[in-house]
Amino acid sequence: MKVYQVTAPDEKERISREILEALKDWFEIPETREAYIRESREQPFLAAEHDGRAVGFLCLKETGKATVELAVMGVKAEYHRQGIGRTLFREARRQAVALGYEFMQVKTVQMGRYEDYDRTNRFYQSLGFRELEVFPTLWDADNPCQIYVMSLRESVTEVIMHRRSYRGKFRPEPVPREDLITILEAGLAAPSGCNKQTVSLIAVDDPAVLKQLHAVIDPPVGETAPAMICVLSQRINAYRDRCFATQDYSAAIENMLLAITALGYQSCWYEGHITDKDRICDKIAQILKVPVAYDLVCILPVGRAMSAPAAPAKKPIAERAWFNGFPETAR
Ligand SMILES: Cc1cc2nc3c(=O)[nH]c(=O)nc-3n(C[C@H](O)[C@H](O)[C@H](O)COP(=O)(O)O)c2cc1C
Repeated sequence: MKVYQVTAPDEKERISREILEALKDWFEIPETREAYIRESREQPFLAAEHDGRAVGFLCLKETGKATVELAVMGVKAEYHRQGIGRTLFREARRQAVALGYEFMQVKTVQMGRYEDYDRTNRFYQSLGFRELEVFPTLWDADNPCQIYVMSLRESVTEVIMHRRSYRGKFRPEPVPREDLITILEAGLAAPSGCNKQTVSLIAVDDPAVLKQLHAVIDPPVGETAPAMICVLSQRINAYRDRCFATQDYSAAIENMLLAITALGYQSCWYEGHITDKDRICDKIAQILKVPVAYDLVCILPVGRAMSAPAAPAKKPIAERAWFNGFPETAR
């Protein structure tokens, strides 16, 4: 079974129609079913496929800046209880977090009315949804609407596992100064060799300055991001001739990437791109009036993503980490 994102509206309509028409016990009112199918064309859409055939799908819908709704979800009855809904949901949750939402809501018929919907209630509860409120007549008196909600806030470990390099377009929404300050503080809180604190940072959120920077970033990267953090490094020795400046700024960058992710933004560590032979970094430093004692080593665009970043393939843990010694097989 494979879960994948569908972007073509006609394909979304074809899949949602196939699944919802097979689930008439749940989606029995033709007008409502057609509305779900129509709306699915424009929504973030995930499909589950088995043996080349669509067996389930899920759509998300923004209901507020911070909240996304699990708008509709269906798995063909013969594929129920095989973990397909759960897999679809897990990927949808990952995408919702990556897009910067803080809450997910879902609506269903209140528990205690119909056996099929009771199963749906129990399924949502098992995913971690919690009762928010019942609206007795939102749909009609026979179908009281239960709204469930779930926080999308993640633990540090989840943030680490879900951080990705994002190279797509950003929403045209400014990043509040408080968030930029939190990100800068996270960077400066990183460890540094002998606590020499060789890292300094410049956050750029003035559109006029951003425009100047993007005029020298060629080929362009992060050009739609509403903010950018520039990382400066000083080659100060920690002791004798030992300089840990590279380690210091690497730790600061990772801290900032994690803070960016935790706050619902996306970014990418652009170092190779700006420190190559054409020395874009020096051009940026000149625009920002950075003194010569500092190297501008990296830029981090910051903003809310327009699309969820794809996860690159990583080698399995067994190929890169071991207990109590280097294994014979990997030598
Ligand atoms: C030192 C360093 C330099 C990087 N420079 C660039 C860069 O110039 N351009 C870019 O697109 N990504 C750059 N990256 C991001 C990596 O390509 C990315 O981390 C890697 O592909 C793994 O993807 P992930 O971050 O989603 O796990 C850099 C990462 C590091 C650690």
